[in-house]
Amino acid sequence: MPKNYIIGNWKMNQSLLEIKDFFETIQSSHLEKGNFWVAPQSIHIDNCLTLAKNTPILIGAQNCSNQNSGAFTGEISCMAIKEIGAHFVIIGHSERRTYYAETDKLVNEKVLKSLENKLVPVICIGETLLQRELNKTLEVVLGQLTQGLEGVKLTCEDELIIAYEPVWAIGTGKTASSKQAEEVHFSIRSKLIELYPNFGEKISILYGGSVKPSNIDELLSMPNINGALVGGASLKASDFSILCKSSLK
Ligand code: PGA
Repeated sequence: MPKNYIIGNWKMNQSLLEIKDFFETIQSSHLEKGNFWVAPQSIHIDNCLTLAKNTPILIGAQNCSNQNSGAFTGEISCMAIKEIGAHFVIIGHSERRTYYAETDKLVNEKVLKSLENKLVPVICIGETLLQRELNKTLEVVLGQLTQGLEGVKLTCEDELIIAYEPVWAIGTGKTASSKQAEEVHFSIRSKLIELYPNFGEKISILYGGSVKPSNIDELLSMPNINGALVGGASLKASDFSILCKSSLK
């Protein structure tokens, strides 16, 4: 069985004070051990690593460079992310693809770089509303998946995570129904088994897009939904810990 994960993507949110409050609330919420990860803004990673010490939460980055080092102003290397003690990196989020023109090729380079540096890539894929309406959902999603994984070799199923995030459901309050999501997750699972016969069955596939305490249980009841990548509802520790607790059921 794949593991369940709840991963918070804080995007460009949270002040230092809000971060302190978040971890204090998490500490008092007696969260049991589980796979709970949070990606703050890069400049807050170090602080979060300190504050998360007595919690089960692991910290990661929201993006990384496809280069090792050198003259790439403003970029953050996987080596630096790893060295500081972070655990994972979100790659290919639709906001990066849309606002910063990230292509599947760039996503693939970043995935390879993160694996080289022993960071777990959380690879985001998903269709726009137009693509769904044109019946292109599976073509788009499976295309992003195979191109993102080009040349990626695995030695175990925990080395990467896939996050299916329909673009039309991100931050809009519109969640894909659990049935709509499962349909896509099932196809992703089949492709993963084809690409990785030894591990495909056990790689975690997360759903993302307006996940909140009121819809998490329904989503997690689907056989191929192994957790959630959460934006808005991950900012408040009380909501985030409800989501985490649901993933342990
Ligand atoms: P949302 O964001 O939960 O606010 O819809 C999800 C994401 O962008 O990862």
